[in-house]
Amino acid sequence: MDEMAFEDRILSSEEIAEDLVNSDNPLRPKTLDEYIGQEKVKQNLKVFIEAAKKRGEFLDHVLLYGPPGLGKTTLSQIIAREMNVNIRITSGPAIEKPGDLAALLTNLNMGDVLFIDEIHRISRAVEEVLYPSMEDFAIDIITGKGQMAASYHLPLPRFTLVGATTRAGQLTAPLRDRFGVVLRLELYSPEELSIIVTRSAKILGIPIDNDGSMEIASRSRGTPRIANRLLKRVRDFAEVMGDGTITAQIAKEALDRLEIDQLGLDANDRRMLEAIIKFYNGGPVGLETLAAAIGEESVTIEDVYEPYLMQIGFLSRTPRGRCVTHAACEHLGLPFPNGVVPGQATLF
Ligand code: ADE
Repeated sequence: MDEMAFEDRILSSEEIAEDLVNSDNPLRPKTLDEYIGQEKVKQNLKVFIEAAKKRGEFLDHVLLYGPPGLGKTTLSQIIAREMNVNIRITSGPAIEKPGDLAALLTNLNMGDVLFIDEIHRISRAVEEVLYPSMEDFAIDIITGKGQMAASYHLPLPRFTLVGATTRAGQLTAPLRDRFGVVLRLELYSPEELSIIVTRSAKILGIPIDNDGSMEIASRSRGTPRIANRLLKRVRDFAEVMGDGTITAQIAKEALDRLEIDQLGLDANDRRMLEAIIKFYNGGPVGLETLAAAIGEESVTIEDVYEPYLMQIGFLSRTPRGRCVTHAACEHLGLPFPNGVVPGQATLF
């Protein structure tokens, strides 16, 4: 996959430098009321936050899970703000040793939110310090070896851990069980994304009409982070090719040039679907086999490509592997392979 490295994908839902230049990203909503979509999550969170505040307590530990780019970091910042506490942000891979976690925890103030992104990637050794600290608000640290060994019992302030993961299934049971609140984020509808695009355009001072917003929204794979990134790229085309206003026509032309099709699929999505059709007769094909065939990491396929392709009904996961659907073949302009796809009626 040299022609388009994953890191360069405009459709990538990974955070990239552009999103982070300003960690105080002006596009991030600051309150639950400003936050668009995820209605169930929002309503439940509102209740938990209000109840905790009424009792004069802090919020229970929260686990947020779902595909990347849906606003897990944003929600954790909103939780901290609504609870009137500070937030410390880190990630699973950044906490290398138990000592790193101990340093983070002992520096928290009463009630603070500790946000750990990609919490499924913390090491076993770190996890073993983390879950007792979630329960007992204290950590036991052992220093030195042999006769020099000493153990310290350090009390911690009452804190709220907000963990985020793309894969709740990969957390160990003891860790998962220590989250009192577990919330699943879902891909956004084009209508919700269109409201987000309009809001972002207003904040950035980009003129856009409703059809322009809807065009960007419907090609953003259910993901606000992608919608906001496409908005910025389409603005470039609008300024160079038009008068700066994003209309449906400008958006269509810009997104076509970026090789993002009407459903938001890019060259990589199409390549994966075509591989299943051409090499595996439409499936089923195992994840690892597919990953090797298209030169992609299996976690990227699972976390980044598949959620949207399944949502739009182009791909199904079966116990025997991945299968494409009739709808996918139709979209790609390819005949449906005459293999037998489990769970699907074929014409043959
Ligand atoms: N920007 C990114 N995600 C958002 C959301 N869910 N609501 C409002 N603005 C956003």
